[in-house]
Amino acid sequence: MTPTLWQHARIATLAPGRPWGWIDDGALLVQGDTLRWVGPLAELPAGRPPDAVHDLGGALVTPGLIDAHTHLVYGGDRAAEFELRLQGASYEEIARAGGGILATVAATRAASDDELFASAAARARALVSEGVTTIEIKSGYGLSEAHEARCLAVARRLGRELPLTVRTTSLAAHALPPEYAGRADDYITDACSWLAGQQAQGLVDAVDAFCDTIGFTPAQTERIFLAARHLGLPVKLHAEQLSDQGGAALAARFGAFSCDHLEHLSSEGVAAMRKAGTVAMLLPGAYYFLRETKLPPVAALRAAGVPMAIASDHNPGSSPGLSLLLMLNMACTLFRLTPEEAWRGVTVDAARALGLADRGMLAAGLRADFVVWDAAHPRDLAYRYGHNPCLRIIRGGVETIRP
Ligand code: NIG
Ligand code: FE
Repeated sequence: MTPTLWQHARIATLAPGRPWGWIDDGALLVQGDTLRWVGPLAELPAGRPPDAVHDLGGALVTPGLIDAHTHLVYGGDRAAEFELRLQGASYEEIARAGGGILATVAATRAASDDELFASAAARARALVSEGVTTIEIKSGYGLSEAHEARCLAVARRLGRELPLTVRTTSLAAHALPPEYAGRADDYITDACSWLAGQQAQGLVDAVDAFCDTIGFTPAQTERIFLAARHLGLPVKLHAEQLSDQGGAALAARFGAFSCDHLEHLSSEGVAAMRKAGTVAMLLPGAYYFLRETKLPPVAALRAAGVPMAIASDHNPGSSPGLSLLLMLNMACTLFRLTPEEAWRGVTVDAARALGLADRGMLAAGLRADFVVWDAAHPRDLAYRYGHNPCLRIIRGGVETIRP
């Protein structure tokens, strides 16, 4: 197979060694779905001439974006709950009154597979249009064996029918479904027993839980993690979002890929994550939309060298937005990340949070997932918001049509 050359680009490879992994007048040599060579055009190795040459005229190239925490598959919306919150009700109060996640569970159970697929596909296309090439999708709005499997199957179908790599996460331990009211431990027993079937059907890449006062206790979370470990499935955790439950330290003990949210993370939690190599998944969209006031401990995470990923956390209750570019801006303005940290958060560190070693930066041997932007520098994309300068998306070496 003869390679394809993409040349005259300003490239932010995000590879280590220099800020942004920057290359001024760069080129990418692509063979099949893989990058064969990335570097300054003047240093392009001599060899077989490429069968196609694309001149990018000095446009910016970055790795494809990775949205490593979403709840994309669900029925209905929560606009009425948004109005209730504007009138003073809190997210927790609404959840305790049977609304919140459980309202979405009812709407999800009532939707057909095709309806779930159509609404999730429209949302996925919005993410793709901003250069997202890999996405994680959690279940967690089915909360029965059949409905959880159905939502995971819809996520898998998105990966087959859209120009996206989809990684799926089983989040049955998201909320207690009404039929188990007062029997949370029984629910966890059953949710643990569903994992083997999900795995046998190829529906699950990782396991997550919501460890909080309106979610599950650390002891219940640990049971889910033990079931995942038994099957060899990696774990991650919605941890320390609304309160400090010690969830991050628990997840770190299980070698979690990531701990997510983390507004209430303690210094012990930071130390445990550092030791385990767990990624801190920061979710500025949920912080913003729930009008949280407690910031995640970014300075402590940075000082400890814990990698920080950024994701949309798209879901109908706490983060209904569909723009990973906006999250770059919010990570900087709300959480005080540098633009380069925010970019690492949606590329290199997002890949790490999904356990994917083949993407997240532009270097020989990695996947040819990259985006061409009408911008001079990636910091411009963290600076502007409500603005999408995406020109072209190349995924696995193939140019995809921008939705
Ligand atoms: O990541 N915290 C729990 N889960 C979601 C919200 C789910 C919902 O409100 O529907 C989150 O914020
Ligand atoms: Fe979430």
